[in-house]
Amino acid sequence: MSAFEIRPELTVDRASVRRVVESAFLDKGTTVADLVDALNAARRTELSLVAELDGAVVGHVQLNHSWIDARERLVDVLVLSPLSVDPPHQRSGIGTALVTAALDAAETAGSPAVFLEGSPDYYGARGFSRGSERGFVRPSVRIPDAAFQVAVLSAHESWMTGALVYCDPFWALDCVGLRDPRLAELEVRLG
Ligand SMILES: CC(C)(COP(=O)(O)OP(=O)(O)OC[C@H]1O[C@@H](n2cnc3c(N)ncnc32)[C@H](O)[C@@H]1OP(=O)(O)O)[C@@H](O)C(=O)NCCC(=O)NCCS
Repeated sequence: MSAFEIRPELTVDRASVRRVVESAFLDKGTTVADLVDALNAARRTELSLVAELDGAVVGHVQLNHSWIDARERLVDVLVLSPLSVDPPHQRSGIGTALVTAALDAAETAGSPAVFLEGSPDYYGARGFSRGSERGFVRPSVRIPDAAFQVAVLSAHESWMTGALVYCDPFWALDCVGLRDPRLAELEVRLG
């Protein structure tokens, strides 16, 4: 395989990003692609990166502004969502490279933490750990505790703890956690 490049999304990439998100998220593809549009329209996007391979966009990741509802005040934090790799190009390191680049950018931007919902196996090996173990509270009980993940960055201070509050587009498009029957199935699998 040729080498891929991670770079900021350009205006000209918009349609390609939508196609990649739709293809990666299968039956949820349209909803997740609409979430990306809504986050952009609401100006909640901090960063959007693409993976380019042989002139084509094959991966995408986005960091969005949300908050920790700390005792002292609301703290601006970032949420990594969505992360998408075009199915024919999965399992070649593109997802890992996008996550690494997003975390580097969040650190450079001075954000205290990056949150996400996802597989602890996948993200645990890529800089994230269980949010509840760091004193953070998930924004919905429909997010399995193990799936509520955080990467705490150097700007984080010990008082910056509390519940993660998602910005509105995640709620408006019903993109928080899982709903039954998928939630019940996963809970059975997790035991
Ligand atoms: C998850 C995703 C971004 C990974 O991208 P990728 O480029 O295939 O990932 P990488 O090549 O860097 O890493 C591949 C490894 O991740 C593992 N992996 C991929 N998806 C996984 C998942 N959902 N859960 C756990 N592990 C996963 C693979 O088994 C592989 O493991 P291996 O290296 O031991 O074989 C991609 O599979 C995807 O777009 N999936 C659909 C959308 C999605 O679920 N996004 C994440 C939502 S939180």
